[in-house]
Parts: sequence; structure tokens; C-alpha cells
Amino acid sequence: MPTQLVKCPTCKTTITISGEPGEKINLTCPQCNQKGVFTVPKDINGRTMASSSTAIDVKGLIKTYNHFSAVNNVSFSVKKGEIFGFLGPNGAGKTTTIKSILDLTHADSGTITINGINVQTHGKEAKKYIGYMPEKVSFYDNLTALQNLSFYAEIKHASKEECIHLIEELGLGDAGKKRVGKFSKGMVQRLGMARAILGSPPILILDEPSGGLDPRGVVLIRDKILEMKKKGTTIFVSSHILSEIQEICDRVGIINKGVLVAQDTVEGLSKKLNLKPQITVTIDAMSTKVENAVKTLPGVDSVKTHGNTLEIICDGAMKAKVILAISTAGGNIQNIQSKEPSLEDVFMRYTEA
Ligand SMILES: Nc1ncnc2c1ncn2[C@@H]1O[C@H](COP(=O)(O)OP(=O)(O)O)[C@@H](O)[C@H]1O
Ligand SMILES: [Mg+2]
Repeated sequence: MPTQLVKCPTCKTTITISGEPGEKINLTCPQCNQKGVFTVPKDINGRTMASSSTAIDVKGLIKTYNHFSAVNNVSFSVKKGEIFGFLGPNGAGKTTTIKSILDLTHADSGTITINGINVQTHGKEAKKYIGYMPEKVSFYDNLTALQNLSFYAEIKHASKEECIHLIEELGLGDAGKKRVGKFSKGMVQRLGMARAILGSPPILILDEPSGGLDPRGVVLIRDKILEMKKKGTTIFVSSHILSEIQEICDRVGIINKGVLVAQDTVEGLSKKLNLKPQITVTIDAMSTKVENAVKTLPGVDSVKTHGNTLEIICDGAMKAKVILAISTAGGNIQNIQSKEPSLEDVFMRYTEA
């Protein structure tokens, strides 16, 4: 909720208030007890007093479909210039949240602002800031890639040269004159990214941009996202390719069954969950003696065996002691691998059934 400082008209004490634009708030000055009513201002464009460092602000978003709660009281904010990863299993409510941010679906309740502008009341103005790549990218099949982009360029006041350049940059150079109806899913996806960044919008919203892309395409989109961030663009990206997100995101939000269950940096979330590294040790021949030697060590959380391989989760400081215990118990070590907690681990923990 936006906050604002007001001065008591009697004793001039500064009072912090918070409320929605247009809301009337009954105030009592803590210094002189003067009572009064203050109306939270709203400028003619619906701009609120939200922090100027916030690009997307979602407060208490609720969306139900025939009594089914698709998004349940979700709140988060995306800071200007950051890459925010929005993660969740299939059906978690990612697309519904994104469609609500774009006012493409009517939220039951909640307030959404883009650069401080209320999307529900001033959608046209708010959406000027956004480049959007939907989950299901579609174009006019009987038009070429260039004709399609040129159509959107007119709406976004971008030039035909920019369209040609983007088609080239997204690796579609040869296909620019081809009808989109003849494109593969990955090619349509690339063109969808070109459309989203056309006109260099200050905010990019990408709903599963890597869907249907080959590995080269995935890298291309990731590099494009990083390039846009360097230019100062704010990026909100939903994805199921967690390794990708881990590499590029400043912060992540995890949604599960319509509820936002976590919001932080990947490192911050790992710490909160007290996630520990996993060591995988392969030995010549598995024995109960080796297994028990590891299981009984303090600081070892779990031990799983698969054939001659042990998967051990333990405190970082215990790694050397674990190896020593295996060896002392007669395990002839063939291979050791150590894996630090990943976004996937964080994701799995927060989305457990
Ligand atoms: N138009 C709709 N009508 C009914 N249910 C819907 C509709 N759109 C989405 N849902 C349901 O809302 C839930 C969240 O969907 P969605 O936001 O698309 O999830 P995600 O993008 O995370 O996979 C799902 O259970 C889905 O079936
Ligand atoms: Mg989706």
C-alpha cells in the first residue's frame, strides 16, 4: 500500500499514513491530538504514491474461476531494473497472475500497479510500459514474420528497420520473408520474443519464454534477457527451466496452488530452508557397514544408496569426515561429486505436496 508523509496543520508534526489513492483516512495527531480526515491523493493519470523504485506492484491478488481459487491473495513487487523469476508447477497460477498484471483477465480483488499506475483503472497508460510475450505465442499465419512484426511496430511506434534487425538478432534472418504459418514452434517463440522487445519497453513480461525452444534458442533468449537488463529494463519472467532462472534472476517468487510461498534471492531461500550440499560417493562394493558408518555421523541428514553409490546430504563442514568414515569402514572410493543447493532444491521444497 502506498505511504505518504503529511504535516499536522496545528503543530506541524510529520505523520506517516498509508492508504489506497482516493481513500479517506481518519487521523489523530500523535503530538497534539488534533483530529482530521485526510484523503490519499490520486493524480489525473491514476498514479499512486508507490515507491518510485517499484516497476510492478501486486497486492492481495485474488482470481477464482467458478469457485476454483487460481490465485489466492498473492502480493509481491518487482524493483526497477531487476530480473524477477516467477516459478511454480503447472497449474500453480503463473499465467493467471501475469494476465491479471496485464489486465487481460479480470481480477476478483487486489491492486496492481505498473510504475505506480493502476492497471485496472488506467490500463491503457500502464500497459504502454510493457513488452509482453504470452505463454501461447500467436501471429497471423498468412503474413510473413516481417509483415507481422511491422504490424505491431506501428502500434508501438517502432521502425521497420528495428523489425528487420530484431528478426536477424533472434536468428530468424532467412525466415523473415516466410509465412509464420510455416514456422516451427521454436521459430514462432523467437518471433514472440522479438515482438515483446520491439520498441525497447522499460518492462518486459515473459511467460515461459523458453517453451518449445532448442538449446540454442534457450541461450539466445537468455542472452537477450541479460542484454535488456543491461539497458535498464525490468524483467518479469515465468519459467520451469530452473537452471536458466538461477543463472539470471536477481530474485525469485515461487507460487504453488495459487499461493505465493516464497520471495527472495535464490541464496536467501536456500538459507531460509537450511538447505545443505549433496555428496555422491561411488565405491567398489556397497556394504551395510559403510552405510551405517555414514548414517551415524552427526551432521548427516540423509543417506540413500543406489547400487554402489551413496547420496549423502550433510552440513558443508562434514564433507571430509563423511569421506573419511566411508574409507575407514572399508569403502574403496571410486568417485566423489559434491553439489551445492540449487534453485531446483528450493523449488522442490516449497512446492512439496
Ligand atoms: N479460463 C480458465 N477457466 C477455468 N480455469 C482456469 C482458467 N485459466 C486457468 N485456470 C485454472 O487455474 C489454475 C492456474 O492456471 P495457470 O495460471 O494457467 O497456471 P500456470 O501458468 O502456473 O501453469 C489451473 O488449475 C487452471 O486449470
Ligand atoms: Mg502458464
